Amino acid sequence: MENKEIVVTGGCGFIGSHIVDALIENNKVTIIDNLSSGKMENLNKPKHENLTLIKEDLLDADLDSILKGKDYVFHLAAKVSVPGSVAEPIYYNQTNIDALVKLLVACKDNDIKKIVFSSSSAVYGENPNMPLKETEVSMPCSPYAAQKASGELYLKSFNEAYGLNYVALRYFNVFGPRQDENSPYAAVIPKFISAILNAKSPVIYGDGEQSRDFIYVKEIVNANIAAAESDYNGVVNVALGKSMTINHLFEIVSDVLESDIPVKYLDERPGDIKHSLADISNLKNINFSPEEDKFEEQLRETVKWFRNEMENR
Ligand SMILES: NC(=O)c1ccc[n+]([C@@H]2O[C@H](COP(=O)([O-])OP(=O)(O)OC[C@H]3O[C@@H](n4cnc5c(N)ncnc54)[C@H](O)[C@@H]3O)[C@@H](O)[C@H]2O)c1
Repeated sequence: MENKEIVVTGGCGFIGSHIVDALIENNKVTIIDNLSSGKMENLNKPKHENLTLIKEDLLDADLDSILKGKDYVFHLAAKVSVPGSVAEPIYYNQTNIDALVKLLVACKDNDIKKIVFSSSSAVYGENPNMPLKETEVSMPCSPYAAQKASGELYLKSFNEAYGLNYVALRYFNVFGPRQDENSPYAAVIPKFISAILNAKSPVIYGDGEQSRDFIYVKEIVNANIAAAESDYNGVVNVALGKSMTINHLFEIVSDVLESDIPVKYLDERPGDIKHSLADISNLKNINFSPEEDKFEEQLRETVKWFRNEMENR
């Protein structure tokens, strides 16, 4: 993508900041981020001449004037914690739905070429029909998942009613540099890495035979750009289409870190799903396929970043 005017909401977050990195040299990028979970340190080049940074809540920002003359919107800003959404569903709804609808109105009023929305495999919830296809029924188990599912429907309705082009990308388990390991709801890969680097036993809930479909953050970036450039309107899973058990993941992380620290097994957490695996055949609609067999290399990159962070703290 070149010479485009782009808005990245949530551009100071884990995934959004990698999208900014990929676009900033050849495009003009405007970030809208209230820094509620994002960080300035996530920005590689906060003073880049192509970057405009608007540190504001989407609900307060003058989206109409920000979106004037822009080509594409990558919408990543969200309240992202599943348990957080269970505790505070109305608060979560304000960002995950109210701000989305406000953004969609500004997109259609400003003739945005396409909006790419970060959705989540959480919309499948307890649906057991693996591998999960986009046509499967949504069975959301949390307000967060319901908000992502509703967000997708809002996009579809704006496409039908106003002709606004969109792709909703359902990410499975994303990992990579800049992922937050400090939140109480941190994802498993940063938790494993951080525990081992701190010479502590990582924790596995249940027997470890539950499985997930992991995907590297830079693949998510490429899927976002491909989705914007494609002619497709609709929902697309973004994953590797391969499942890995948590026990196996632990072995690989231990190998990469040359660690013999044992794992600690605790009781299964209520509400945790047993397996998650994507059908990724729809990725062809956005002309994208993730690289195969790079998991260990990607994990090494991730570990390198966590090591650096620890040393610079
Ligand atoms: N990380 C994953 O594994 C994963 C999986 C599925 C879907 N997603 C989705 O991808 C997107 C990015 O997730 P992430 O992991 O980078 O999370 P993140 O928390 O690092 O990024 C979200 C960003 O949005 C900003 N933000 C939140 N509310 C805002 C508001 N009201 N106004 C302006 N900015 C606001 C935060 O400050 C943060 O920078 C989210 O929509 C998330 O739901 C992530």
